[in-house]
Order: sequence, then structure tokens, then C-alpha cells
Amino acid sequence: MSEDSARTKKIAIIGGDGIGPEVVAQGVRILDVFREQKGYPLELIHYDFGADRYLRDGVTFPEEAQRVIREECDAVLLGALGDPRVPGLEHARDILFGLRFGLDLYCNVRPVVCLSDRLMPLKNRTAADVNFTVFRENTEGIYVGMGGQFKRGTPDEVAINEDLNTRKGVERIIRAAFEFAKETGAKKVHMADKSNAMRHAHELWLRVFEEVGAEYPELERQHYYVDALCLYLIQDPTEFEVIVTCNLFGDIITDLAAGFQGGMGMAASGNIRPGAVSMFEPVHGSAPPIAGKDIANPLATVLSVGMMLTHLGYEGDEALLSGIVKDAVESGHVTRDVGGELGTKATGDWVVAELKKRLS
Ligand code: NAD
Ligand code: IPM
Ligand code: MN
Repeated sequence: MSEDSARTKKIAIIGGDGIGPEVVAQGVRILDVFREQKGYPLELIHYDFGADRYLRDGVTFPEEAQRVIREECDAVLLGALGDPRVPGLEHARDILFGLRFGLDLYCNVRPVVCLSDRLMPLKNRTAADVNFTVFRENTEGIYVGMGGQFKRGTPDEVAINEDLNTRKGVERIIRAAFEFAKETGAKKVHMADKSNAMRHAHELWLRVFEEVGAEYPELERQHYYVDALCLYLIQDPTEFEVIVTCNLFGDIITDLAAGFQGGMGMAASGNIRPGAVSMFEPVHGSAPPIAGKDIANPLATVLSVGMMLTHLGYEGDEALLSGIVKDAVESGHVTRDVGGELGTKATGDWVVAELKKRLS
């Protein structure tokens, strides 16, 4: 074991709202198996941040927890945030953006793989036709909250959200996408923007894509307007290997792309700052209508734990977990959303049992 893999790693666990705690509980069981059976030195720190806590005592994401995560932790496992009892979503913004912006997690990496033909929604396509990774900018864009409302509630009301794009921010996510393409042997990088309409902000994207791309002559680069890219994704997903895009378009494209994966219950993500504490979460939200019923699919969380283990320096575990998830789908040991009859916990039981078997 290398010195770094022997060092105790601290992982903050935030279940959050709705189905978040239910799916995260299954992710924690996976980490426990690695700790117990492979001796990984993982220390979990559980936080109860979310709507319940906020409604109880007004706490969203306290400074001390932010400090612990920033200075002591190696990773965060997050469920989801969002609760109908907090319609303004102020706690969700504090926690989710507190992590993404506060830790400067500029790469929102969302792998799009279809693990089984059983999940493929397109006719005349197989699972092998879908395998690309979206690099979503995660610290800027329309998400920064700049703007405001004026004359609210009057006929002259004005509402503004600014789309903030910096040279530094655009360049680092585009570079990360090209680096990833190079490392993984991809041939092509796509960039999606809307520079025909957003001519100031997205002209920057177009220019930086050309400039940074020119440093990688071995990689083909293709720019599409985001609306056209959505069409081409459905028409021929095999064209895509790496897609880099802004915060908002990355959000939308990856829900669309979750359709290739079997739905929201199968889509994993990492909010990554290379070499630093990073956060892993399923792409889906808190799904209030199915919360508390033991029907949420925990497999996106299991796959996100796999991404976390790679980030922590443990090689091979991500592939092991994704192999188990594939087998769960193909053998029908899954929740209803992906054609099974198991509950959240029973799906977790099956994955944990398989993992224990394969590690022994
Ligand atoms: P959602 O992802 O919660 O749900 C969309 C659809 O997918 C629903 O039909 C839901 O039932 C289904 N779904 C989601 N996860 C599932 C799972 N694990 N298993 C089975 N089905 C699943 O999106 P939404 O309904 O638009 O949002 C609900 C709340 O979650 C909102 O408050 C939203 O802001 C929040 N949200 C939070 C995050 C996050 O914390 N990262 C991400 C997305 C949405
Ligand atoms: C996601 C979510 C969030 C986003 C929401 C909850 C603000 O949809 O993680 O994809 O838009 O980033
Ligand atoms: Mn989203």
C-alpha cells in the first residue's frame, strides 16, 4: 500500500432531503464493506444538514462544518437537497452551492454509460452505443446568483440573473475536458454553447475552446450549439466521447442523458477539484413524491461511491462496483424504475452481498 492509501481518509456524509438519506445509506454500506473487508482507512463524519434541520433550528451549513470539510476531509458523499416545505430552497442553495462554490469544485464530471441493453430506450441501439462523459462547469454561469428583482409584484417588475463567465473558469473546465480525453484515449471533444444568442458570454467559450483545443492537435474538436447537440445526442449517441459545457447546459444535458442510462436512478457524478477534497452525488434530486417509501433506486449513489474511491486513489473499485450494478440490472435485482421489484434497501442488500463475495 502506498503511503497515501494508508493514510486515514475522512469522508463527510450528507444525506440531505427526500430520498437523499435513503440512497446515501446504501452508499455508506458500500464504504463500510471496503473498510471492513479491504481494510481501507476510511473515517465517516455524518452531518444532518437538510430541510428538517433547517426547519428545526434555522441551520443550513454552519461555518465549522465547512471548515472541517475544507481542511480535514478528502471527500463528501451527498444525497440531494430540496424539500417542498422550503419553497425558496434557501437551505439547498447554502449546502449544495456552499460545497460546489466553497470548495471550488469546478469539474462536475457526469459519466453517461448505459450498463445494459435492458436500459436502452432508443430503438435499434445497444448499450455499447452510449459511453461519454460530460464536463459541466460547476462554479460560474447563471448559477452564481448575481442579479436581482426590481419593483417585485408590480406590473413593471424586472427580474435579472446574470450569466457570469470568466476566462479562468472557462479555460480550466475546457482544459480538464481535453486532459480527460487525452488520458482516456478519446478521439474527440465536443463543446456545447449558445454563442449565436449569448454572443458576449459564449463567444468566450468558443474562443477558449479553439485556443485550448489547439494545444491538443491529436484530439478532434467539434463545437455545436446546445440545442443542436441535444438533437444529435438522440440521433447518434455514438458520436460523443467527451462533452464540455457551461453550468446550466451541463445540468440539462445530463438529465437528458440520464434517459440513456435507465433514468435518474442510474446517473452518477463527481464534483471534482483535482487533487483536493471533492464531492460525489447521484445526479438526481430529492424526488419528494417517492421519498420514505423504500422505492428509490440507490444505484446512482453506488456508482458515485465508485467515482469517489477512484478519487481517493483506490484503483479498480469503481469498475468492480459498476460491474456489480450492471449484473444487478441484468439479473433484475433492482428497483421498479429500472424494471425490478426490489426496494431501496433490498437492492443495497444484493449489491453489498455481491461486493462481499467478489472481495473475498
Ligand atoms: P428529481 O431528480 O428529484 O426527480 C426527477 C424524476 O426522477 C422523478 O420522477 C423522480 O421520481 C425520479 N427519480 C429521481 N431519483 C430517483 C431514484 N433514485 N430512483 C427512482 N426514481 C428517481 O428532480 P425534481 O423532481 O426536478 O426535483 C426534486 C427536488 O430535488 C427539487 O427541490 C430540486 O431542486 C432538487 N434537486 C436537487 C439536486 C441535488 O441536490 N443535487 C439535484 C436535482 C434536483
Ligand atoms: C443538479 C441539480 C442542481 C443543479 C439544482 C438542485 C440546483 O439539478 O445537481 O443537477 O442545477 O445543479
Ligand atoms: Mn440537475
